[in-house]
Amino acid sequence: MKRIGILTAGGDTPALNATVHGAVVRANQTKVEVFGFIKGYSSLKTDSVPHVHLNPLFSEIPELDPTRGGTVIGASRAYVDPEDIATVDRIAEHLKTLRIEGLICVGGDGTLNGLQPFAERLPVVLAPKTIDNDLGLNHRSEPDEWERVPSDEPPGYRYQQGTSSTRFSLDGMVNYVTPGYATAVYVSVAGVQRVRTTAESHRRIAIVEVMGRHSGHIALGTAYGQPDIILVPEVPVQIPALVKRVEELYELQKNVVIVCGEGIVDENGQELGAMRESLDPAGNVTLSGASEALRTLLVEHFGDAYFRNYRRAESARAAVFTRKVGHTQRGGRPVLFDRFHAAQLGGKAVDMLLEGRNNAVAIIQRESERGFYVDGYDGNGFRDRWGIIHPRFLHPSFYDRELMRPSQIGVDYMLPIFTNAVGHADIEAIRQSVFDSGSLFRPYHSVNTDINKRIRYLTSPQ
Ligand code: F6P
Repeated sequence: MKRIGILTAGGDTPALNATVHGAVVRANQTKVEVFGFIKGYSSLKTDSVPHVHLNPLFSEIPELDPTRGGTVIGASRAYVDPEDIATVDRIAEHLKTLRIEGLICVGGDGTLNGLQPFAERLPVVLAPKTIDNDLGLNHRSEPDEWERVPSDEPPGYRYQQGTSSTRFSLDGMVNYVTPGYATAVYVSVAGVQRVRTTAESHRRIAIVEVMGRHSGHIALGTAYGQPDIILVPEVPVQIPALVKRVEELYELQKNVVIVCGEGIVDENGQELGAMRESLDPAGNVTLSGASEALRTLLVEHFGDAYFRNYRRAESARAAVFTRKVGHTQRGGRPVLFDRFHAAQLGGKAVDMLLEGRNNAVAIIQRESERGFYVDGYDGNGFRDRWGIIHPRFLHPSFYDRELMRPSQIGVDYMLPIFTNAVGHADIEAIRQSVFDSGSLFRPYHSVNTDINKRIRYLTSPQ
């Protein structure tokens, strides 16, 4: 192979540049040219196919900085419908004209779902990324556990994960962790720690909402910030038990910190917050309002009298407050763990293309004896019997339902990821950058301005 393409699809993560950088470094060593397609699949869908040559003369362009969050080649949730043969064929034609012999898609489960039609036209490898940590399998046969059950909503059925007959082992996980997850947890933990001291001072109940869609991995990771209660989407919230626990804690310490994943559900499996259909073509829903729903619930339970008369504090609405960690989880400098493993995955994806792999995924594996290593996995290994790739949920054994916090297995899962996740360079970067006096004088210079000058087109854009 002389020339390959790379694109970053779906929501961004802090480690995307690191993955692209890892791929380019490996391509330089093997004398392969790398073209980066702008804004994920949306570049390929236009006839102008905007792209950037990421390694002219086999050295990476200076804008590609693995320590910077986001992605210099841009990301989008644009998706190619596999049924739309005309579009897929046109894209394949464009790639051929550009003499692209293989494609690396950096993405999550949605991207992997969209990869199949391309894999029938040129070799394609996925390098995983997602802060949600939901691209992977808890064990190899997990895709076989998915069932189709009737539904009132179109198309008349939905997918549901059935009971497992596999004994869980951490060593048996496929793609132990995805780049972006560690940084998202790092940011969320800091949010929880900072909220705690103010909740303590003002005798308040704080509800911190973290991202992750229907997966509770980020919420679980916030255990490092020592919230009192963690609620994950995989386990329906038992409202009476929750209220009782909050009351006990408030009596004891006069403040409570609760973390909830944005996708938490009630006993009937209904999302606690409002759930509105997003425009995301990959079919992902937008979740918002979980923390507000919990707040309303607690405010109604305690009422103003409890805080005003009994606790000599504010009204219930003032005493119970919510904060979303939000998109700060997805941005900024990636921590060492993410940088290192993202780069490894990028390099592995290049190697896999050169080895002739197609419709395959570069993965991060971990075995207790061996530690972390990168490997390749067949894309179909993630697909259920209908060809669908489902997000990985938090394995039930990771969460202690009674204590509403990580179980021992959950702790054992997290320790190898987070123990040395932050490197010395990360600490030094904070020291040097936060109060850099130069920032007071210089306007922000966006990397997009520089990348724009490098963009080339197959045909003139309209
Ligand atoms: O999948 C990543 C993620 O950050 C989710 O955790 C979150 O629900 C969603 O994307 C938000 O998407 P966006 O910022 O693109 O609207």
